Amino acid sequence: MWRQRQQHACGGLWLFLCVLLFPSSALAQSSSDMSINAPFQDSFNRLTHAACVTLFHRKGRLGCGTEDRSLHVGKLVYYKGNSNGNNNFPSVNEDFVAVVEEYHLDASTLNTLVQGNSNGYLKGLLFLNSTGIDYNRDKSYYSPAAQSPRGYGTPSAYEWYGNNAYPWNAKGQGLNIYDFYGLPMAYVPDSDVSNELRNAAMNQINKNNNNNNNEEQQEGSSSIVAEFNYYMGPDGINSLECLGWKDQADGKWSPKCLPLGGTSVWATAGSPEPNQDNQNNNNNDDINDDDARRELNNNNNNNNYYYDANNRPVVLVAAGMDASSLFHDLVPGANSAASNILALLMAAKMVGGLGDNVLDKLTYRIAFGFFQGETYGFAGSRSFLRDVAFPGFQCSANDRIVRSVANNDKSEKACLYPLRHSLEFQRLGPIAGMLAVDQVGLPVADGLLYVHNDGQGDGSFGSFMSNVLKYSYTSNFAVSYTSIEDNDNGWPFPPSPLQSLVQLSQGAAGGAVLTGYDYAFTNQVPFHSHLESNQEKQMDLDAIAAAATLLARAALAAAYDGGQYDYETSSQYASQWIGELSSSDETLNILANCLFKDGNCDYLKKYNSMERENDKARTGFSYGSGYPLGTPPNYYVGVYNINYGQPFVQVGDSVYGAYDGDKYGNRGADAFGIQPTLLESAIRGMLNDFLGRGSNLNGGSAQECSKPSDCDNVQYCQKNDDHAVCTGGGKCVCARSHFHLALDEALEAKPGMGTGYFVQSENDNEISAVYTEPYWSNDVGVRVYRDVGQIPGVVTLGVGAVVSGLCVLAAFVLKVGLKKEKMY
Ligand SMILES: *[C@@H]1O[C@H](CO)[C@@H](O)[C@H](O)[C@H]1NC(C)=O
Repeated sequence: MWRQRQQHACGGLWLFLCVLLFPSSALAQSSSDMSINAPFQDSFNRLTHAACVTLFHRKGRLGCGTEDRSLHVGKLVYYKGNSNGNNNFPSVNEDFVAVVEEYHLDASTLNTLVQGNSNGYLKGLLFLNSTGIDYNRDKSYYSPAAQSPRGYGTPSAYEWYGNNAYPWNAKGQGLNIYDFYGLPMAYVPDSDVSNELRNAAMNQINKNNNNNNNEEQQEGSSSIVAEFNYYMGPDGINSLECLGWKDQADGKWSPKCLPLGGTSVWATAGSPEPNQDNQNNNNNDDINDDDARRELNNNNNNNNYYYDANNRPVVLVAAGMDASSLFHDLVPGANSAASNILALLMAAKMVGGLGDNVLDKLTYRIAFGFFQGETYGFAGSRSFLRDVAFPGFQCSANDRIVRSVANNDKSEKACLYPLRHSLEFQRLGPIAGMLAVDQVGLPVADGLLYVHNDGQGDGSFGSFMSNVLKYSYTSNFAVSYTSIEDNDNGWPFPPSPLQSLVQLSQGAAGGAVLTGYDYAFTNQVPFHSHLESNQEKQMDLDAIAAAATLLARAALAAAYDGGQYDYETSSQYASQWIGELSSSDETLNILANCLFKDGNCDYLKKYNSMERENDKARTGFSYGSGYPLGTPPNYYVGVYNINYGQPFVQVGDSVYGAYDGDKYGNRGADAFGIQPTLLESAIRGMLNDFLGRGSNLNGGSAQECSKPSDCDNVQYCQKNDDHAVCTGGGKCVCARSHFHLALDEALEAKPGMGTGYFVQSENDNEISAVYTEPYWSNDVGVRVYRDVGQIPGVVTLGVGAVVSGLCVLAAFVLKVGLKKEKMY
């Protein structure tokens, strides 16, 4: 796939030369994997880089890349940093690549280097893993993310309600959203390789100095150079132009970008509610928005037009599941993504443990939302909330609403255009409010979490939720209101899925956010940096367990309370039903290991693979195992395509991103499909397992299963159109969870085309960020090699000894090798 595929320990010319020298290995290679050059396999395996890449957005670009297709080559020069107030711009008068320690990766360094580059000698930046270097490390690391993440000054600035300029990320320097056009950069994660590069770069400085003192050029001196091949598109274009790109030669539509996006996962607690024909309820042409909002605000659910009015209002417990850094292949997101996911999963498990007999009697319904792409314009929560209620999804025509598996009348409904692989979200009732969770892995104070609400004041869902959280304290964690005070600039509440709910409902629906921070993000690990990892700073499982308990209790309290806003009675009720999760809980610890350390753990893999079998049994499509979370885990959102969350429909022999023809269903095998990542699929499986223990179990145990058909005759998932599925937990459970596309609202798949073609939606109201990632070149990467001067390769080729020497070098220094292969 498209990101993270490194290739060629020995690239290009080197590969060619080395193959000449090592014919046996060349043979071995052609018979197995061409992408790995066998003699250098070891060094290849150690050598990787993580690039700073370009992203386009609605109004332009950000990130790194070269201006055009020509390679950027320069000799390695060690950059000492300018911490002493000196401008240490390297004094060289030839093309160079600055080699920089990661602890110098901040705005001051980049300013010095970018501003000082008036003669254009600086060709690129390599950042080193500084592990093992004895330096005076500033524990208060700057964060590369914006000071107001997703807010003021970012492409998501208009997706806010109220104050978008509050400096949540007080240490933020905005590097992640800066446009470094013309300057390629990469990080070298391997500390051994970093050492070699550091030594090489430092030694060259010395040589340079010697040469300056002594005019005489050393005969045969050579320098070690880095070569960046990082063309990521021209200047002056934006996402929509990039998506709509036409080849000049033939005028053929040939997009050069794909949107950032993926798949959100949502689930309900308790049995399904009666299935209404939602399309009739969506007939809202003559209803004005304000009326509907007012109704929502009054909790009057007799006459809602945007969702299933007959169903109970929903308390949505939600979190963002992605993070970022300057280098998208290194996004550990331990506090800002993994901790959220962990707390929310454990909360779902506790709520599910109540059983449907309790859950079905609650006045409101509890739902969980794991939203993808939140870092990039709240893509997941906005996609979901817009479809559910604000303004509510409209299929282009009633006859475009079909069964997601053409020959199965019982399969979920789907829409051919705009494509939705499932319309189950239309069965949700109105959203009564939201409880979000953010960054609870590293609380700033011992035994204390914080609650922020949307500032709608007394008598609002947000203030009710705040009080409930405060009253739901555990034996070792309390909850405090944030110390932020209203400063008349609009009440600030953190960037989280709650922002989407409040903005989309224009304040009619609200809620609260449970966090580990008070008035600003902790700086113990830098927010949205490649260092935001469990390895740098271990996440606090006590805090995460407490957050899960608090979320579960608060959700239950709100569902029980049903809009009375009697927080004392309802939190008392909830505390009786939901005990405290211990930080030594087995599932918590297994999942912590998966989400913080080993994304390829068995636990996620078994849930993921059963989900794929379920999908195969249902639709006939066989998917691979999905894009891995990786080890160490990577929480970058990813690039939306058919292998990465873009839902599709198969009609006859063709696959479409959306379909406006009339042949769907002519063939029995016609069906909708979606292939989320391993993590997203595993979450769907876990949510089914945790929440789907059924209504008639009554203490009995769920039926065991090892394949989908084992659950065909289960008796305990019967209410309404409930049905059983097998999960990776090895039990037949009642289906409770679903995927939803996480795609910027401005975009929709072009009907009648394959996947990967996107156009501006006619419902775009021009406020979303529209992030896309370009793939202008097939062949981007960084090489490091010894430059022997001007001798042409052809001549070199004749000289065995020299070639041999080159290959040794190629194996040795080189090859930070690292080609970054793009998928298309
Ligand atoms: C830096 O190197 C150390 C030691 O090899 C390693 O444990 C760590 O994960 C590396 N850091 C990153 C960000 O890759």
